[in-house]
Amino acid sequence: MATICIKNIGEIIGIVPQGVRRKEGAEMNETGIMHDAYLLIEDGRIAAFGLMTEMPQADEYIDAERGLVLPSFCDSHTHIVYSKARHNEFLDKINGLTYEQIAANGGGILNSADYLHNTSEDDLYEQSMKRVNEMIGKGTGAIEIKSGYGLNTEDEMKMLRVIRRIKETSPAIIKSTFLGAHAVGRGYTHEQYVRLVCEEMIPRVAAEQLADYVDVFCDEGFFTVEDTDSILTQGAKYGLKAKIHANELAVSGGVQVGVKHGALSVDHLEKTTDVEIEALRGTTTMPTMLPGSSFFLGLPYGRAKDYIKAGLGVALASDYNPGSSPSGDMRFVMALACIQMKLTPIQALNALTLNSAYAMDLSDEVGSITIGKRANLIITHPMQSLAIIPYQYQSPWMHYHLLSGVPCSQTT
Ligand code: NIG
Ligand code: FE
Repeated sequence: MATICIKNIGEIIGIVPQGVRRKEGAEMNETGIMHDAYLLIEDGRIAAFGLMTEMPQADEYIDAERGLVLPSFCDSHTHIVYSKARHNEFLDKINGLTYEQIAANGGGILNSADYLHNTSEDDLYEQSMKRVNEMIGKGTGAIEIKSGYGLNTEDEMKMLRVIRRIKETSPAIIKSTFLGAHAVGRGYTHEQYVRLVCEEMIPRVAAEQLADYVDVFCDEGFFTVEDTDSILTQGAKYGLKAKIHANELAVSGGVQVGVKHGALSVDHLEKTTDVEIEALRGTTTMPTMLPGSSFFLGLPYGRAKDYIKAGLGVALASDYNPGSSPSGDMRFVMALACIQMKLTPIQALNALTLNSAYAMDLSDEVGSITIGKRANLIITHPMQSLAIIPYQYQSPWMHYHLLSGVPCSQTT
């Protein structure tokens, strides 16, 4: 069995005992830390860690040169399979149009659907893999990817096949989510489209085993609570767990319908009241916030601190997509979480790793430094504190990124 030992680690941060699947409330501000340490990898998994004075023999060594070792980021909400940027809309936005106005003018998600329709599956795969590799280069090791730029059965299937191909070829762990209900596809009435999602798309997606989860954009101007209820009910019948978009543009009722269906996560939450916080207490649903889209669209940031005060856990993800968050940089997400949402660096780290892994049903596999988990690890440059990462948010910080113990070629 091949062993690799990371030696001269300044601090290992993110040590969590086996069996802990998420952090909630006060636990969000806690994590295991070990100074002057080594970490042993065996067959791509974390086999042991301890003090440098007790370092074992290994086949190979990586010198951390007093850098920090952290679990790789887990990004539980992205839309990175798309064709072409939407820079024209960026200009509309600069000139004062809102996200909703751009969408109502036939732009936004529908624009991406037109681009995708005219792009071959191979080209779509190449464009998307570039984004996956960019994200890996910035420290992300597990990624959820949604469909939702097809908006008719054939194009949704095409997107999901591209996600499957990424799953098969990327060293990152990939989860696939069917988001047919992202917007009403061109040529359909609202009712026809919801029926198409339920009666044609979900059965086909399930038959070809192309998705792990089902998602709905449950928000003002997109899909109602009743639509969401029907789609999630149908998804459950076909074995698809829910992960939904809720409360981005309005207090939409999305959180409650997500909780009712035992959603793994409810995501966005820019517009929430105490009622939504209460609705999430005592559930298995992970509230997930996407500060990159608050930043880009000028929306309020999610009330993460209030959720944590109420005893809940919070996950953070990038929402990487061409319309509301054109970046998959989780270090920047961490900076926004600390600077704008006032999370401590440890709260932000837990939200970007273990809790985001939980929101993909992956927290038994990644998201912390735990014996037996996959060795998806970031080794930073020499650094006095975790706080340097979000504080000096543009300085080079990563020395190595390992996926299953293997260094990735390009890091930033
Ligand atoms: O999560 N809100 C809905 N969907 C995406 C944006 C998609 C797009 O504009 O292309 C989001 O923000
Ligand atoms: Fe999204």
